[in-house]
Amino acid sequence: MRKLAAGNWKMNGLKADGVALAGEIAQRAKAEKLGCDILICPPAPLLFPVGAVLAGSPVALGAQNCHANEKGAHTGEVAAPMLTDAGCSYVILGHSERRADNGESDAVVRAKTVAAHKAGLIAIVCIGETLQERDAGETLAVVSRQLAGSLPDGLDAKGLVIAYEPVWAIGTGRTPTIVQVAEVHAHIRQTLKGRVADSDAVRILYGGSVKPSNAQELMNVPNVDGALVGGASLVAADFWAIAQACS
Ligand code: PGA
Repeated sequence: MRKLAAGNWKMNGLKADGVALAGEIAQRAKAEKLGCDILICPPAPLLFPVGAVLAGSPVALGAQNCHANEKGAHTGEVAAPMLTDAGCSYVILGHSERRADNGESDAVVRAKTVAAHKAGLIAIVCIGETLQERDAGETLAVVSRQLAGSLPDGLDAKGLVIAYEPVWAIGTGRTPTIVQVAEVHAHIRQTLKGRVADSDAVRILYGGSVKPSNAQELMNVPNVDGALVGGASLVAADFWAIAQACS
């Protein structure tokens, strides 16, 4: 399966930073054709300038969130059709930071996934357990529950990417063992059967402290079909090294 290297810039960078970083990634992607898909997800105000820099390059543009409604009286929110209009092909949904900071439930994530799908966006639906849940032996149950609640019916592999991100591995420098990653990814693959028609073709990304030094090992794990990269995606050389490991 063709892997996906996705950069989640989170709430980082002003226009000049984003344009420079995206420019460097676009330049590398034009010079060295990789065997993976590459995606950059900047903060919402940078979608247009970063999109302009990525135009004509093999690097796709994505957003970090959308609202469940198509339009209307929702001050401060961004609708999925606006993201398509800005040139996005992907949107990250249900990231653990949004689940924690904004109280996004599985039901909210499902409604947003429906909206993204309707707007023609590929939804990257994020799931993952907290440290407390891992220590209590609940990881697989949590992941199953999040998948059951967050995924609407009628999705296919073209419109859906799953990102497994253990909350305790995000931004901490800690990663699960290869055995733990393999176990959860195999469980996700199994759980997708019957939920998504062509479930074997759904890309399941690993996210949480992916770095150039651990990317290759993670990408060799069965059912790991790419990476969702936070901190390391803010350094062009690091993100590129991870993308190389994905291809
Ligand atoms: P990190 O973030 O790579 O900085 O751990 C990953 C993510 O939250 O998507």
